[in-house]
Amino acid sequence: MRTQVAIIGGGPSGLLLGQLLHTRGIDTVVLERRSREHVLSRIRAGVLETGFAELMHEAGTGERMDSDGLIHEGVTLACRGRQLRIDFEALTGRHVVIYGQTEVTRDLYDARDKAGLPTFFECADVSLHDLNTDTPHITFLHEGRETRIESDFVAGCDGFHGPSRQAIPESVRHEFEKTYPFGWLGVLSETPPVSEELIYAGSERGFALASMRNPGLSRYYIQCPLSNHPDDWDDDEFWQELKRRLPQDAAETLITGPSIEKSIAPLRSFVCEPMQWGRLFLCGDAAHIVPPTGAKGLNTAASDVGYLFRALLRHYLRGDSTALGEYSETALRRIWKTQRFSWWMTTLLHSFPDRSEFDQRTAEAEFAMLQESEAARHVLAENYVGLPY
Ligand code: APR
Ligand code: PHB
Repeated sequence: MRTQVAIIGGGPSGLLLGQLLHTRGIDTVVLERRSREHVLSRIRAGVLETGFAELMHEAGTGERMDSDGLIHEGVTLACRGRQLRIDFEALTGRHVVIYGQTEVTRDLYDARDKAGLPTFFECADVSLHDLNTDTPHITFLHEGRETRIESDFVAGCDGFHGPSRQAIPESVRHEFEKTYPFGWLGVLSETPPVSEELIYAGSERGFALASMRNPGLSRYYIQCPLSNHPDDWDDDEFWQELKRRLPQDAAETLITGPSIEKSIAPLRSFVCEPMQWGRLFLCGDAAHIVPPTGAKGLNTAASDVGYLFRALLRHYLRGDSTALGEYSETALRRIWKTQRFSWWMTTLLHSFPDRSEFDQRTAEAEFAMLQESEAARHVLAENYVGLPY
């Protein structure tokens, strides 16, 4: 089998790249390790930057996002009894769209099916070969058969645990990592959100976040020790702790209900440099991970895809491979800025067990700056709605 771009990974990165390339007549094949049902069962944030929404429109997959997505023009930050609203619209003239990642992925799969594009599910032993030649190829097991795909390029969109990043020689890779001494315990409940907009709260007891998927489906998080397990928290204990951490007005109006999903995720930052090697290009979680505090995981995957899409277009339509050669450098410039923002939001709003008194005071001063300086709020707002691509 032969294609122009072989895409490893059928998550948001791989699917968005495949759909964008299809709109310009460039062939792709997507190889996904799990079943479609499993991919669509993942519960993940959906705070979409302007740039992401524009790419979904360019891919021809923005219709449901436009009809079902919630426009959010601001967000509330609360810290130790004080709170303020960051008015994205007033500060930047832009907003974010709340639309679950599951729905994004569903829309992209539906579009791929409608276009009749080849997707292999439940692929095993995916291996990348001859990446440093003009004829790279992929081998994998599908339905028990050894299968080979020849391609011009390989897009490694296979997430943090996929094989693509490892296909870059260890002697070439430079990996950066920062781990945080806590996790997020998340609960999904079929209850109306406590607020029309998101609330990020940093209390003496730890961080909490009030978010949502739609007007009838709420998503809440509380910072928890890494030693915790979801079963350590029954629903009532979770709701009581959430109320202790949210601003009082929100705590008093919170509507609780049975959790329909409860899980704990660790927080970490990770970047792999470079993001390309020969004919392989990494996108999204395959190359970088951010703590969820700034809602940048999905959005940074999208900016990678945007850069790679444009670079491949210039190669195929104009015979110009300059942008392909500069892909990693271009993508990393924006990635490090989103890493900074995600680290800054996490440091501002979480309790750190071993934080010095000096560091605690400077974190409180950071919040005071936001309260007193429109310039400080502007910087937060332009990072949250999305830095330019
Ligand atoms: N072969 C084929 N597919 C693989 C392999 C493999 N060996 N290993 C992993 N995959 C698949 C996974 O099953 C997953 O569906 O690659 C896909 C990677 O998708 P994501 O992990 O969602 O990563 P990405 O598409 O870059 O999207 C980033 O996902 O994890 C969130 O917070 C992150 O929102 C961000 C988004
Ligand atoms: C979510 O709704 O899951 C969510 C929203 C914003 C974040 C992180 C997670 O920063």
